[in-house]
Amino acid sequence: MGIHSRSESSHTPVAIVGAGPAGLMFSHLLHLQGVESVVIEKQSREEVETTVRAGILEQGTINLLRKTGVGERLDREAEIDEGISISIAGESHRIDFAKYTGKHVAVYPQHEVLIDLIAKRLSDSGEVWFNTEVTSIEDHESDNPKVHYRTADGSESVLSADYVVGADGSNSLTRKLITGEDGRRMKHEYPFAWFGMMVHAPQTAPELIYATHPEGFALISTRSESVQRYYLQCNPNDTPGMWPDERIWEQLHLRADSDSVIVSEGEITDKAVLRFRSAVTDPMQRGRLFIAGDAAHTVPPTGAKGLNLAMADICALAPGLVQAVKSLKARC
Ligand code: PHB
Repeated sequence: MGIHSRSESSHTPVAIVGAGPAGLMFSHLLHLQGVESVVIEKQSREEVETTVRAGILEQGTINLLRKTGVGERLDREAEIDEGISISIAGESHRIDFAKYTGKHVAVYPQHEVLIDLIAKRLSDSGEVWFNTEVTSIEDHESDNPKVHYRTADGSESVLSADYVVGADGSNSLTRKLITGEDGRRMKHEYPFAWFGMMVHAPQTAPELIYATHPEGFALISTRSESVQRYYLQCNPNDTPGMWPDERIWEQLHLRADSDSVIVSEGEITDKAVLRFRSAVTDPMQRGRLFIAGDAAHTVPPTGAKGLNLAMADICALAPGLVQAVKSLKARC
């Protein structure tokens, strides 16, 4: 496993809850600065590596992956988009990111980023404990927090840490410890939603299409050459049952076809109503417990920001925590 195998490891400098983009990148950044950590993840490695979620990496995230030695497959396989199309009443207008900002985005699904980060952590002898659920955290306001966890066979144990980082997503357990007392979580719920589909079909266009139409917005995005991600604006109370395939295709063509593009059709393999919520937690630290990524703030999927914000959080948090752990060590 790692330098400390789970059985002997009862203490770690940093315990990280959640092996998503924030948790894994955090563990990787700490390692690069000589600070070890344990990442605890409820799901199996296979679940983490196969659950399809976000798909757009902004330039900052691309740079971070490259700079820290996990960008090799991204550079080989990702589709680079230098712009987007905005379709208004069937007329398409291109916005050239590269020309106006010198930057681009990569279409590289989140689970591929996770595959790369997990492989890197394990090859660096990092500790990632899959199938392990954090049941509670105690003493995070002392200088020796304890993370209680349960493994897949039902046995329970405790990991002591100098610091704990909650990167456990929007249903975060760690956040509740922060908001529980006098913390605040500000929330906003929007009066519209997206009906999201995963479709086995060839790509509609080389770049993303954001379409406006009197019947509502549509977004033509992609996950790979053969898997497309489409969205239709819908009512938050809609259910997938209200969206039979014929209605989906009719609406996608109506809202997103243009003079130059026809939405490509195929088998719809997933349908879901994505409600739009924004939330932010204040503060994001209590004692020696910090939260990052979706655990700290949730954004609707509109801007494809979630993963990119999580990476930005980690870049802000890592240097401070490295310094804190090192100064603890120096005192010992
Ligand atoms: C997506 O592919 O999920 C996606 C792309 C661009 C957005 C939002 C979502 O603005």
